[in-house]
Amino acid sequence: MKNREELKKEIRALLKERDAIMIAHNYQRDEIQEIADLTGDSLALSQAAAESPSKVIVFCGVHFMAESAAILSPHKTVILPRLDAGCPMAEMITPEDLIKEKAKRPGVPVVAYVNTSAAVKALSDICCTSANAVKVVDSVESEKVYMIPDKNLSHYVSLSSKKKMEWWHGFCPTHERLKPEEVIKAKEKNPDAVFVCHPECNPEVVKLADHVCSTSGMYKYAKASSAKTIIVGTEMGILYKLKKENPDKNFIIPSNSLICPNMKLTTLEDVAESLREMKNIVRVSEDIREKAKLSLDRMLKVPRDF
Ligand code: 13P
Ligand code: SF4
Repeated sequence: MKNREELKKEIRALLKERDAIMIAHNYQRDEIQEIADLTGDSLALSQAAAESPSKVIVFCGVHFMAESAAILSPHKTVILPRLDAGCPMAEMITPEDLIKEKAKRPGVPVVAYVNTSAAVKALSDICCTSANAVKVVDSVESEKVYMIPDKNLSHYVSLSSKKKMEWWHGFCPTHERLKPEEVIKAKEKNPDAVFVCHPECNPEVVKLADHVCSTSGMYKYAKASSAKTIIVGTEMGILYKLKKENPDKNFIIPSNSLICPNMKLTTLEDVAESLREMKNIVRVSEDIREKAKLSLDRMLKVPRDF
Protein backbone atom coordinates (compact mmCIF):
# COMPACT_ATOMS: atom_id res chain seq x y z
CA MET A 1 0.00 0.00 0.00
CA LYS A 2 1.22 3.48 -0.89
CA ASN A 3 1.63 6.05 1.86
CA ARG A 4 -0.10 9.44 1.76
CA GLU A 5 2.79 11.30 0.09
CA GLU A 6 3.23 8.61 -2.58
CA LEU A 7 -0.51 8.73 -3.33
CA LYS A 8 -0.47 12.51 -3.67
CA LYS A 9 2.46 12.27 -6.09
CA GLU A 10 0.70 9.58 -8.12
CA ILE A 11 -2.52 11.63 -8.26
CA ARG A 12 -0.71 14.73 -9.48
CA ALA A 13 1.05 12.67 -12.19
CA LEU A 14 -2.20 10.98 -13.27
CA LEU A 15 -4.01 14.33 -13.44
CA LYS A 16 -1.35 15.58 -15.84
CA GLU A 17 -1.36 12.42 -17.91
CA ARG A 18 -5.18 12.42 -18.28
CA ASP A 19 -5.51 16.20 -18.87
CA ALA A 20 -7.63 16.34 -15.73
CA ILE A 21 -8.50 19.00 -13.17
CA MET A 22 -9.25 18.03 -9.56
CA ILE A 23 -11.84 20.17 -7.85
CA ALA A 24 -12.98 19.77 -4.26
CA HIS A 25 -15.80 21.12 -2.13
CA ASN A 26 -14.92 23.07 1.01
CA TYR A 27 -16.17 20.16 3.20
CA GLN A 28 -13.79 17.55 1.77
CA ARG A 29 -11.09 15.90 3.90
CA ASP A 30 -8.02 18.11 4.52
CA GLU A 31 -5.70 15.96 2.38
CA ILE A 32 -8.13 16.15 -0.58
CA GLN A 33 -8.41 19.94 -0.31
CA GLU A 34 -4.63 20.14 -0.02
CA ILE A 35 -3.91 18.64 -3.43
CA ALA A 36 -6.96 19.86 -5.37
CA ASP A 37 -6.43 22.38 -8.18
CA LEU A 38 -9.39 24.31 -6.88
CA THR A 39 -11.59 24.30 -3.78
CA GLY A 40 -14.83 26.20 -3.41
CA ASP A 41 -18.53 26.37 -2.70
CA SER A 42 -21.17 24.84 -4.98
CA LEU A 43 -21.39 27.98 -7.12
CA ALA A 44 -17.62 28.38 -7.65
CA LEU A 45 -17.30 24.68 -8.48
CA SER A 46 -20.18 24.84 -11.02
CA GLN A 47 -18.50 27.82 -12.67
CA ALA A 48 -15.14 26.02 -12.71
CA ALA A 49 -16.74 22.95 -14.26
CA ALA A 50 -18.35 25.08 -16.96
CA GLU A 51 -15.16 26.99 -17.77
CA SER A 52 -12.28 24.53 -17.34
CA PRO A 53 -10.41 23.62 -20.54
CA SER A 54 -9.37 20.19 -19.12
CA LYS A 55 -10.80 17.04 -20.72
CA VAL A 56 -11.47 15.31 -17.40
CA ILE A 57 -12.98 16.73 -14.19
CA VAL A 58 -12.34 14.81 -10.97
CA PHE A 59 -15.08 16.06 -8.69
CA CYS A 60 -14.41 15.52 -4.99
CA GLY A 61 -17.80 16.25 -3.48
CA VAL A 62 -21.21 14.61 -3.62
CA HIS A 63 -23.23 13.21 -6.51
CA PHE A 64 -25.36 16.25 -7.44
CA MET A 65 -22.20 18.35 -7.81
CA ALA A 66 -20.58 15.95 -10.27
CA GLU A 67 -23.90 15.66 -12.07
CA SER A 68 -24.04 19.46 -12.45
CA ALA A 69 -20.53 19.36 -13.94
CA ALA A 70 -21.65 16.66 -16.41
CA ILE A 71 -24.72 18.75 -17.33
CA LEU A 72 -22.65 21.88 -17.96
CA SER A 73 -19.76 20.13 -19.75
CA PRO A 74 -21.18 17.28 -21.84
CA HIS A 75 -17.97 16.74 -23.79
CA LYS A 76 -15.87 16.23 -20.68
CA THR A 77 -15.46 13.10 -18.59
CA VAL A 78 -16.65 13.76 -15.05
CA ILE A 79 -15.38 11.43 -12.34
CA LEU A 80 -16.92 11.20 -8.88
CA PRO A 81 -14.31 9.12 -7.00
CA ARG A 82 -17.00 7.70 -4.70
CA LEU A 83 -20.23 7.05 -6.59
CA ASP A 84 -21.92 6.34 -3.26
CA ALA A 85 -21.32 9.90 -2.02
CA GLY A 86 -24.87 11.21 -2.23
CA CYS A 87 -26.58 14.16 -0.58
CA PRO A 88 -29.50 13.11 1.66
CA MET A 89 -31.17 16.49 1.15
CA ALA A 90 -31.12 16.07 -2.65
CA GLU A 91 -32.78 12.67 -2.18
CA MET A 92 -35.67 14.22 -0.22
CA ILE A 93 -37.50 15.32 -3.38
CA THR A 94 -38.18 13.12 -6.42
CA PRO A 95 -39.33 14.20 -9.90
CA GLU A 96 -42.74 12.68 -9.07
CA ASP A 97 -43.01 14.83 -5.93
CA LEU A 98 -42.17 17.95 -7.91
CA ILE A 99 -44.65 17.15 -10.69
CA LYS A 100 -47.39 16.94 -8.04
CA GLU A 101 -46.36 20.24 -6.40
CA LYS A 102 -46.21 22.02 -9.77
CA ALA A 103 -49.72 20.81 -10.61
CA LYS A 104 -50.98 22.51 -7.42
CA ARG A 105 -49.37 25.82 -8.51
CA PRO A 106 -49.83 26.30 -12.25
CA GLY A 107 -47.53 28.99 -13.68
CA VAL A 108 -45.50 29.44 -10.46
CA PRO A 109 -41.75 29.26 -11.23
CA VAL A 110 -39.69 26.64 -9.41
CA VAL A 111 -36.33 27.66 -7.94
CA ALA A 112 -34.23 24.55 -7.29
CA TYR A 113 -31.30 24.60 -4.91
CA VAL A 114 -28.41 22.84 -6.70
CA ASN A 115 -28.70 20.11 -4.05
CA THR A 116 -31.20 18.26 -6.28
CA SER A 117 -30.94 15.50 -8.89
CA ALA A 118 -30.57 16.29 -12.61
CA ALA A 119 -34.11 14.99 -13.19
CA VAL A 120 -35.48 17.46 -10.62
CA LYS A 121 -33.43 20.33 -12.10
CA ALA A 122 -34.89 19.43 -15.51
CA LEU A 123 -38.38 20.10 -14.10
CA SER A 124 -37.34 23.43 -12.53
CA ASP A 125 -37.06 26.94 -13.96
CA ILE A 126 -33.83 28.15 -12.41
CA CYS A 127 -31.25 26.80 -9.96
CA CYS A 128 -29.58 28.58 -7.07
CA THR A 129 -26.86 27.91 -4.52
CA SER A 130 -26.44 29.27 -1.02
CA ALA A 131 -24.25 32.03 -2.53
CA ASN A 132 -26.89 33.51 -4.84
CA ALA A 133 -30.27 32.28 -3.54
CA VAL A 134 -31.68 35.73 -2.66
CA LYS A 135 -30.63 37.26 -5.98
CA VAL A 136 -31.94 34.26 -7.94
CA VAL A 137 -35.36 34.35 -6.25
CA ASP A 138 -35.57 38.12 -6.80
CA SER A 139 -34.56 37.69 -10.46
CA VAL A 140 -37.59 35.54 -11.26
CA GLU A 141 -40.32 37.43 -13.13
CA SER A 142 -43.24 36.37 -10.99
CA GLU A 143 -44.73 37.49 -7.70
CA LYS A 144 -44.83 33.90 -6.45
CA VAL A 145 -41.99 31.39 -6.25
CA TYR A 146 -41.89 27.72 -5.24
CA MET A 147 -38.53 26.76 -3.80
CA ILE A 148 -37.10 23.24 -3.39
CA PRO A 149 -35.89 21.21 -1.54
CA ASP A 150 -34.47 23.00 1.53
CA LYS A 151 -37.01 24.44 3.96
CA ASN A 152 -34.27 26.23 5.91
CA LEU A 153 -32.65 27.97 2.93
CA SER A 154 -36.13 28.84 1.63
CA HIS A 155 -37.13 30.35 4.97
CA TYR A 156 -33.90 32.33 5.08
CA VAL A 157 -34.50 33.71 1.55
CA SER A 158 -38.11 34.59 2.42
CA LEU A 159 -36.83 36.90 5.19
CA SER A 160 -35.27 39.27 2.66
CA SER A 161 -37.18 38.64 -0.57
CA LYS A 162 -40.38 40.44 -1.55
CA LYS A 163 -41.68 37.35 -3.37
CA LYS A 164 -44.54 35.29 -2.02
CA MET A 165 -42.78 32.03 -1.33
CA GLU A 166 -43.78 28.45 -0.69
CA TRP A 167 -41.35 25.59 -0.32
CA TRP A 168 -40.71 21.85 -0.03
CA HIS A 169 -39.92 20.38 3.40
CA GLY A 170 -36.41 18.93 2.78
CA PHE A 171 -33.39 19.74 4.92
CA CYS A 172 -29.72 18.95 5.39
CA PRO A 173 -29.43 16.37 8.21
CA THR A 174 -25.95 17.65 9.08
CA HIS A 175 -26.87 21.34 9.50
CA GLU A 176 -30.21 20.46 11.12
CA ARG A 177 -28.29 18.76 13.95
CA LEU A 178 -26.89 22.10 15.16
CA LYS A 179 -29.05 23.23 18.05
CA PRO A 180 -29.55 26.88 19.18
CA GLU A 181 -28.53 25.87 22.74
CA GLU A 182 -25.12 24.74 21.44
CA VAL A 183 -24.57 28.12 19.78
CA ILE A 184 -25.71 29.99 22.90
CA LYS A 185 -23.30 27.92 25.01
CA ALA A 186 -20.39 28.67 22.66
CA LYS A 187 -21.29 32.37 22.73
CA GLU A 188 -21.40 32.38 26.55
CA LYS A 189 -17.95 30.78 26.70
CA ASN A 190 -16.59 33.25 24.13
CA PRO A 191 -18.37 36.56 24.75
CA ASP A 192 -16.22 38.46 22.22
CA ALA A 193 -16.81 35.96 19.40
CA VAL A 194 -19.01 36.49 16.35
CA PHE A 195 -21.21 33.72 14.97
CA VAL A 196 -21.41 32.96 11.25
CA CYS A 197 -23.63 30.19 9.89
CA HIS A 198 -24.80 28.51 6.70
CA PRO A 199 -28.41 29.12 5.58
CA GLU A 200 -29.02 25.34 5.68
CA CYS A 201 -29.12 25.72 9.50
CA ASN A 202 -32.47 25.80 11.28
CA PRO A 203 -34.14 29.28 11.51
CA GLU A 204 -33.66 29.22 15.32
CA VAL A 205 -29.89 28.98 14.72
CA VAL A 206 -29.91 31.51 11.87
CA LYS A 207 -31.61 34.01 14.23
CA LEU A 208 -28.49 33.94 16.44
CA ALA A 209 -26.04 34.65 13.60
CA ASP A 210 -24.06 37.83 12.97
CA HIS A 211 -23.72 36.74 9.35
CA VAL A 212 -25.30 34.03 7.15
CA CYS A 213 -23.54 32.89 3.97
CA SER A 214 -22.25 30.10 1.73
CA THR A 215 -19.10 28.20 2.66
CA SER A 216 -16.89 30.44 0.47
CA GLY A 217 -18.66 33.48 1.92
CA MET A 218 -17.31 32.35 5.29
CA TYR A 219 -13.70 32.67 4.10
CA LYS A 220 -14.36 36.24 2.98
CA TYR A 221 -16.15 37.04 6.22
CA ALA A 222 -13.38 35.56 8.39
CA LYS A 223 -10.68 37.55 6.59
CA ALA A 224 -12.61 40.82 6.80
CA SER A 225 -13.82 40.44 10.39
CA SER A 226 -11.98 42.21 13.19
CA ALA A 227 -13.14 39.50 15.64
CA LYS A 228 -10.39 37.25 16.96
CA THR A 229 -12.76 34.34 17.65
CA ILE A 230 -15.36 33.14 15.18
CA ILE A 231 -18.01 30.50 15.93
CA VAL A 232 -18.79 28.66 12.71
CA GLY A 233 -22.12 26.95 12.05
CA THR A 234 -21.37 24.60 9.20
CA GLU A 235 -19.67 21.29 8.34
CA MET A 236 -16.26 21.05 10.01
CA GLY A 237 -14.31 20.55 6.76
CA ILE A 238 -14.51 24.34 6.48
CA LEU A 239 -11.84 24.58 9.21
CA TYR A 240 -8.98 23.47 6.94
CA LYS A 241 -8.85 26.65 4.86
CA LEU A 242 -10.21 28.97 7.57
CA LYS A 243 -7.26 28.09 9.84
CA LYS A 244 -4.74 28.16 6.99
CA GLU A 245 -5.81 31.60 5.79
CA ASN A 246 -6.24 33.12 9.28
CA PRO A 247 -3.50 31.73 11.54
CA ASP A 248 -4.04 34.56 14.04
CA LYS A 249 -7.76 33.76 14.55
CA ASN A 250 -9.55 31.15 16.59
CA PHE A 251 -12.40 29.13 15.03
CA ILE A 252 -14.98 27.22 17.04
CA ILE A 253 -17.38 24.59 15.69
CA PRO A 254 -20.19 24.62 18.30
CA SER A 255 -21.25 20.97 17.86
CA ASN A 256 -19.36 17.70 17.33
CA SER A 257 -22.18 16.55 15.07
CA LEU A 258 -21.42 19.04 12.28
CA ILE A 259 -19.89 16.40 10.06
CA CYS A 260 -21.36 15.21 6.75
CA PRO A 261 -20.52 11.49 6.35
CA ASN A 262 -21.01 11.68 2.57
CA MET A 263 -18.59 14.55 2.14
CA LYS A 264 -16.00 12.56 4.09
CA LEU A 265 -16.20 9.38 2.00
CA THR A 266 -13.64 10.37 -0.64
CA THR A 267 -10.07 9.39 0.18
CA LEU A 268 -6.79 9.88 -1.68
CA GLU A 269 -6.90 6.17 -2.54
CA ASP A 270 -10.34 6.62 -4.18
CA VAL A 271 -9.09 9.53 -6.27
CA ALA A 272 -5.99 7.62 -7.39
CA GLU A 273 -7.96 4.48 -8.23
CA SER A 274 -10.60 6.35 -10.27
CA LEU A 275 -7.89 8.09 -12.27
CA ARG A 276 -5.82 4.94 -12.78
CA GLU A 277 -8.82 3.02 -14.13
CA MET A 278 -10.81 6.01 -15.47
CA LYS A 279 -13.82 4.71 -13.56
CA ASN A 280 -16.72 6.14 -11.53
CA ILE A 281 -17.84 8.34 -14.41
CA VAL A 282 -21.06 10.32 -13.92
CA ARG A 283 -23.38 10.47 -16.93
CA VAL A 284 -26.72 12.24 -17.47
CA SER A 285 -29.12 11.22 -20.25
CA GLU A 286 -29.31 13.81 -23.03
CA ASP A 287 -33.03 14.64 -22.68
CA ILE A 288 -32.65 15.40 -18.96
CA ARG A 289 -29.29 17.11 -19.43
CA GLU A 290 -30.59 19.65 -21.96
CA LYS A 291 -33.48 20.72 -19.72
CA ALA A 292 -31.41 20.76 -16.52
CA LYS A 293 -28.74 22.85 -18.28
CA LEU A 294 -31.28 25.61 -18.95
CA SER A 295 -31.91 25.91 -15.19
CA LEU A 296 -28.19 25.96 -14.38
CA ASP A 297 -27.36 28.40 -17.20
CA ARG A 298 -30.04 30.82 -15.97
CA MET A 299 -28.50 30.65 -12.49
CA LEU A 300 -24.96 31.28 -13.76
CA LYS A 301 -26.07 34.63 -15.20
CA VAL A 302 -27.14 35.88 -11.74
CA PRO A 303 -24.41 37.46 -9.54
CA ARG A 304 -23.47 36.25 -6.07
CA ASP A 305 -25.28 37.55 -2.97
CA PHE A 306 -21.91 37.80 -1.20
P1 13P B 1 -22.07 25.69 -0.36
O1 13P B 1 -20.64 25.31 -0.34
O2 13P B 1 -22.50 26.02 -1.75
O3 13P B 1 -22.36 26.78 0.62
O4 13P B 1 -22.95 24.41 -0.01
C1 13P B 1 -23.00 23.73 1.14
C2 13P B 1 -23.43 22.34 0.99
O5 13P B 1 -24.07 21.81 1.83
C3 13P B 1 -23.03 21.57 -0.15
O6 13P B 1 -23.49 20.31 -0.03
FE1 SF4 C 1 -26.01 17.35 1.55
FE2 SF4 C 1 -25.84 18.54 3.91
FE3 SF4 C 1 -23.93 16.89 3.20
FE4 SF4 C 1 -24.19 19.26 1.97
S1 SF4 C 1 -23.65 18.91 4.10
S2 SF4 C 1 -23.84 17.27 1.03
S3 SF4 C 1 -26.42 19.49 2.00
S4 SF4 C 1 -26.08 16.35 3.56
